[in-house]
Amino acid sequence: MPLFPEPTTAPVLAGKAALVTGSNTGIGLEAAKILGAQAPATLILAVRSLASGEAAREQLLAAHPGADVRVWPLDMASFASVRAFAARVNELEKLDIAVLNAGVAPGSGDQALQATADGHEVTHQVNVLGTLLLALLLVPALRRAADPSLVIVSSEVHAWANTDFVRRHLSGLVDAVDDPALYVNSERYFLSKLLLQLGVRRLIPALKGIRVVSTTPGLCRTGLARGYSEQEQAAMYSRARSPRDGAVAVTSAIGHPVSEEVGVQQKRKLTTVLGRL
Ligand SMILES: NC(=O)c1ccc[n+]([C@@H]2O[C@H](COP(=O)([O-])OP(=O)(O)OC[C@H]3O[C@@H](n4cnc5c(N)ncnc54)[C@H](OP(=O)(O)O)[C@@H]3O)[C@@H](O)[C@H]2O)c1
Repeated sequence: MPLFPEPTTAPVLAGKAALVTGSNTGIGLEAAKILGAQAPATLILAVRSLASGEAAREQLLAAHPGADVRVWPLDMASFASVRAFAARVNELEKLDIAVLNAGVAPGSGDQALQATADGHEVTHQVNVLGTLLLALLLVPALRRAADPSLVIVSSEVHAWANTDFVRRHLSGLVDAVDDPALYVNSERYFLSKLLLQLGVRRLIPALKGIRVVSTTPGLCRTGLARGYSEQEQAAMYSRARSPRDGAVAVTSAIGHPVSEEVGVQQKRKLTTVLGRL
């Protein structure tokens, strides 16, 4: 029995504008297909590789000829790119749905920290700083929609973060996550998703009137595990779901009711994690 109901293919997004980041592959591409089948007025594929974005657009247009599917560049590892993308989105009349899905996992090897041109550790900038910055910069366009949804793709593995690291560096966490001497490659993905969760926790009360939901697709067979060994990938993928199943879970968050309880539930979960700090 499926975990989530099959998404509707009725034109429930008629007149609405939606965007999905990292929608050239994996869960993002499948999420774009699900939204594309619901007849949005505009669907923006936000991608760092325009060629693979165009290939994704072709797939969507083959299924929905004449649809308004746009491929816009977005590099989440660059604040300038995030700002330029958001500025373009804010020129739209409104934005009804933003699915912030793009993310990276550095894998399990013993690699050294890689920094972006902005000077931050790359996983931290893509998964946390870039995602939260984009969320905030999209607010003007989201606020012009009648019932906006901001869906942030996190992961249940935020609960695996090394909370000793967080506790030890709590007063200087912003610097600690970018310190090459403190970097542990195999722990970074988990830490990034915990810090993302903490950021979303602040967004929920701050962005009243916008449905802010942090969600997880569950373990899915995608390119995300490319930094893990073949053996690790085989072990992970033996239990994994399809990217489409992950996208069904992610897109189900779009209609999630806005209520105080959403924040309360998240607070309870986070309290469990934070209780270990
Ligand atoms: N797969 C899982 O088991 C799982 C479980 C829990 C949560 N998640 C989350 O689900 C989301 C989607 O991951 P996925 O599993 O579909 O992985 P994926 O197949 O590797 O897709 C990741 C997407 O993010 C994009 N991306 C990465 N770095 C980017 C950057 N600097 N700028 C713009 N886009 C960038 C990728 O673009 P390129 O193709 O150009 O690299 C790709 O489109 C992530 O947030 C991930 O953390 C996944």
